[in-house]
Amino acid sequence: MSEQQLFKVTIDNITIEVPAGTTVLQAARSIGGDVAPPAMCFYSKLEGSGGKCRTCLVEVSKGSEKDPRPMPKLVASCRTTVMDGMEVKNITSPKVKDARAGVVEFLLLNHPLDCPICDQAGECHLQDLGYEHGKEGTRYEFQRRTFKKYDLGQYIQLHMTRCILCYRCVFTADQLTEKREHGVLDRGDHAQIATFIEKNLHNDFIGNVIDVCPVGALTDKTFRFKNRVWFLKPLDAHRDCPTCSGRVTLWNRGDEVFRVTARKDEWGEIEDTPDGKTGWICNTCRFEKKKTSDWMIEGPRNVNRHSVISQGHYVGLQKPQETIEKVLDGRQPKLLMDIHNISDVNKPSVELSAINGAATSSVFNK
Ligand code: SF4
Ligand code: FES
Repeated sequence: MSEQQLFKVTIDNITIEVPAGTTVLQAARSIGGDVAPPAMCFYSKLEGSGGKCRTCLVEVSKGSEKDPRPMPKLVASCRTTVMDGMEVKNITSPKVKDARAGVVEFLLLNHPLDCPICDQAGECHLQDLGYEHGKEGTRYEFQRRTFKKYDLGQYIQLHMTRCILCYRCVFTADQLTEKREHGVLDRGDHAQIATFIEKNLHNDFIGNVIDVCPVGALTDKTFRFKNRVWFLKPLDAHRDCPTCSGRVTLWNRGDEVFRVTARKDEWGEIEDTPDGKTGWICNTCRFEKKKTSDWMIEGPRNVNRHSVISQGHYVGLQKPQETIEKVLDGRQPKLLMDIHNISDVNKPSVELSAINGAATSSVFNK
């Protein structure tokens, strides 16, 4: 068998060798950290994804060893394959930084800034992107788009105003289910995710569209408005499921399971199972197994990304020494409280995950 051809590529002054055919984005991911460009539409587990959002733009300052001319324009790294001797600039390129800020501004033209009430807050890729590359303010003076409300069934909530039209959910339905019932209707500023003639999405694996959606356009109806992700403890767990791998992350508060998702890697993509397949999970595991007793708990999940979830994560946590009393000359602080212990809102007697629908004041004022 002939040996695989390796190409040398330098990204942000770091040189590596990757197999021919590797994209610049995947090569950068193999270096890791900030060298990897952000990707809002590319998803390595979905065939044909990428090339839509332009967040992964990079500068190719040297095309290859044979033809060292730089590429005239910034290129989408998720759709550009490496050439031998190629030199790429990502975070070291002012042009890229400027273009990325423009892309964020463009993506936010129509995206509402409703992070305080959005269930995706804390794990939203657009939120991270805006934080890292966005500019203050917008030059847009027109009204944001509004849409007719579509019902996607009992499990999935669509907020079309938040959608960035990355097509990931469409590819997921195409490649994971037998019959896709939703897609992007219309074009230009009228383009929208919708179910043709308002069909509900029934397929056993359709819940995975929630996991691939980079923003809060598709969220889990069984979890909506129940809790913030940074208050929950992610745990790796599995069950013997006849339909899927049964390998999930449980999002618990105490013993209550609030949410079940597939396990995600540092790029926010669904991890592979030990047998090399993508760990998509079925609707039964995701929406119907909401008791700790349904699962074999493996242990706390390591959250690698620099997200608010990892900020509050408790794996290996060392509590800093309490200094407040010292600062207050020995007086006990009265106004500060640990919201995990004392809360007038989340009464421990109310099992939030068992409530049908959103947790509102009516639940607590009975
Ligand atoms: S609903 Fe989410 S996954 Fe689907 S196209 Fe919109 S942003 Fe992408
Ligand atoms: S991730 Fe490359 S264009 Fe969207």
